[in-house]
Amino acid sequence: MLPYGRQSIDGSDVEAVVAALGSDWLTTGPRVADFEADLEQVAGAPCVTVTNGTTALHAAYAAAGVTTGDEVVTTPMTFVATASSAAMLGAKVVFADVEQDTANLDPAAAEAAVTSRTRVVAAVDYAGVPADYDRLRKISESAGALLLGDAAHSIGSTWRGRPVGTLADLTTFSFFPTKNLTTGEGGAVASTRPELVERLRTFRTVGVTRDPAKLRRTDEGGWFYEVHEFGLNYRLPDVLAALGSAQLRRLGRFKARRAYLSARYDELLAGVPGLRLPAQRAEADPMRHLYPVRILDGRRREVYDRLRAAGIGVQINYIPVYWHPVFEDLGYRRGMCPVAESFYAEQLSLPLFADLSDTDQNRVVETLRGILGS
Ligand SMILES: Cc1ncc(COP(=O)(O)O)c(C=O)c1O
Repeated sequence: MLPYGRQSIDGSDVEAVVAALGSDWLTTGPRVADFEADLEQVAGAPCVTVTNGTTALHAAYAAAGVTTGDEVVTTPMTFVATASSAAMLGAKVVFADVEQDTANLDPAAAEAAVTSRTRVVAAVDYAGVPADYDRLRKISESAGALLLGDAAHSIGSTWRGRPVGTLADLTTFSFFPTKNLTTGEGGAVASTRPELVERLRTFRTVGVTRDPAKLRRTDEGGWFYEVHEFGLNYRLPDVLAALGSAQLRRLGRFKARRAYLSARYDELLAGVPGLRLPAQRAEADPMRHLYPVRILDGRRREVYDRLRAAGIGVQINYIPVYWHPVFEDLGYRRGMCPVAESFYAEQLSLPLFADLSDTDQNRVVETLRGILGS
């Protein structure tokens, strides 16, 4: 089955991992700091690595102080973790609808959803196109909330020339194999605010602090440390950080290849009846993570089944998050976000990854055209 996304691994990745395995540090060593410095070059803000994109969200919400009684305004057109990691901290998740074309959080809907209890407004850069953070920032600031960008799809993208990583107070990344770069499992949080970076570092290290300026007792001895707030062990090992740094060196090439393949889909699928191609935004220079088409006339399920039967691993991104029984059981009902639901009803992600060959892409295009009868 041709996958919808997959990693690109070469000899430089293997060399970097083997070198880390032979070093003194499998975890908590120098390669973690190196990878964080490399990430900062791309994200434009200091980065704290963690074990995956879900724990990046959990750590980011914890650093934002999200707790019981708080509200988090977010989009339903995302992987469940964007919402569930806030719910696990006790927050009430408030879903606001999405823009019809990009499927990103609609600033007007977010504005209508914020209250004095909103602690975080969390956008998602769907398919790699950044959300409209300029408008969302005004909304989050006027509500006294922090702005979070779930950039699991969009590391390497820019918005009005500014890198994803600088657009929100907290930006989370995932390095799962289907993402723009991979560490197997892995993630990071970027923040433009030093106090949040410090909280993130402490949270991902089980809450441990050794900073003499912070210790309540300073006369115990050199071994002494304290925990002032609960945290978890979310540390990314050096072996994976080494892979991340090697991958980042090729991020520009990955972006160029994804742009080439997306432009090729645009060209080869232009004018096909019953098909709508993904939205563009003039302000964005996106890292094209997904190629999300819309299948019209109620044929999405049929097209999905027939492409899969032909060995083409298309994917649906995403089931509206509040449809999951865990939210349904909390009282969330279908119909809450009609734009997201009609987007979901038509959405289909075609294969897109750096190592996708032109030949395989041609097969996707020909099979899809054949099904749609053009
Ligand atoms: C939008 C979004 N948010 C969060 C995540 C969670 O990332 P991970 O799979 O690394 O935990 C993903 C990845 O599946 C994602 O696509």
